[in-house]
This record gives sequence, C-alpha cells and structure tokens, in this order.
Amino acid sequence: MAESFLISGASKAERYQSLYPQLKALWEDEPDLIANMANTTAVLKTAFDFHWVGFYLVKDQQLVLGPFQGPVACTRINFGKGVCGSSWEAGKSILVPDVDQFPGHIACSALSRSEVVVPVKTEVGKVVAVLDVDSAEVNYFDETDREWLEKIAGQLAMFAAPNSHSSSL
Ligand code: SME
Repeated sequence: MAESFLISGASKAERYQSLYPQLKALWEDEPDLIANMANTTAVLKTAFDFHWVGFYLVKDQQLVLGPFQGPVACTRINFGKGVCGSSWEAGKSILVPDVDQFPGHIACSALSRSEVVVPVKTEVGKVVAVLDVDSAEVNYFDETDREWLEKIAGQLAMFAAPNSHSSSL
C-alpha cells in the first residue's frame, strides 16, 4: 500500500536512494501521469523538509499548476518567466540558492527562500512539465537534489501522452 512508505537515511542522498525504488514500485502499476505526479509530490514532501513541491504542466502555451504539496500557488506561468518558465525555455534544471537574487522570480509564497526547478522531458526532449521545489531556507538545494529530481522527472516523463505539447511554441 502507498502509505507503507519507509524513508530511511540521515543524509539527503540516502533518503533519495531509499525513496526512489519505492516510487518506481508505485508508478509501475499506474499509467496515468497526473496520478503518478500526485503520489510523487506526497512522497517527496514526506521525505524532505520542502516548503513546496509540485508540478506545472505545459498546456495552452503556458505552464499550468498540477499536483503539488504546500501552500496555495499561482496557477499559470508564461514561457520564459520566473524560475519555472526559464527552466521550460532552457529545457534545463535551474538551482536557485537565493530567490531574491533570481531576476523575475515569481514569489507564490513569501516564505520561499531557495528553489530548484527540473524540466520533465520526454525521450525526444519535449518539455511536458516542470518539477518545482521550494525551501524556506536559503541555499537549501545542491547537486544531490538536482541529480535525483532529474532522475525522478525523467521517469515520470515516460507517462506523458505521446502527443503531449512540446516546448516549442
Ligand atoms: N517560484 C516559481 C513560481 C512557482 S511557486 O514557487 C510554486 C517561479 O519563479 O517560477
């Protein structure tokens, strides 16, 4: 059962290593992207002290809010805007040690102090969503987060419908 999730390990890397195979086990019986995104946010929020963790999906030439855990968030982000829209535009992860230093950062919550955004890209490089994680601490995220969140996003991309919107507008 989903609630029988065991997260172990003192270090960040150990906790990701502990949750990843359990996440994959959850996904393997469920083909729906949104359902898998929803459970992924619940697992990540449970495993780490994230302020906010969620997905924005590429829809109608914008990023539209998808499954998330945390405070109420803005529902739409334009291409190239904010950290999420910039990650979508670049097709690359963006690690922000201090959101006040990121030009154009979109503050859905005043408590967000650092952020990492990872594109959810299909095998042909189409960005179908972004995974956005916020912390209430400055400089919270590092390369371990980037590496594991990219791994998780890469797996989730496999559940995207074949004709998903591309990042090219
Ligand atoms: N900070 C993001 C907006 C999404 S909220 O953090 C959930 C950005 O600048 O794109």
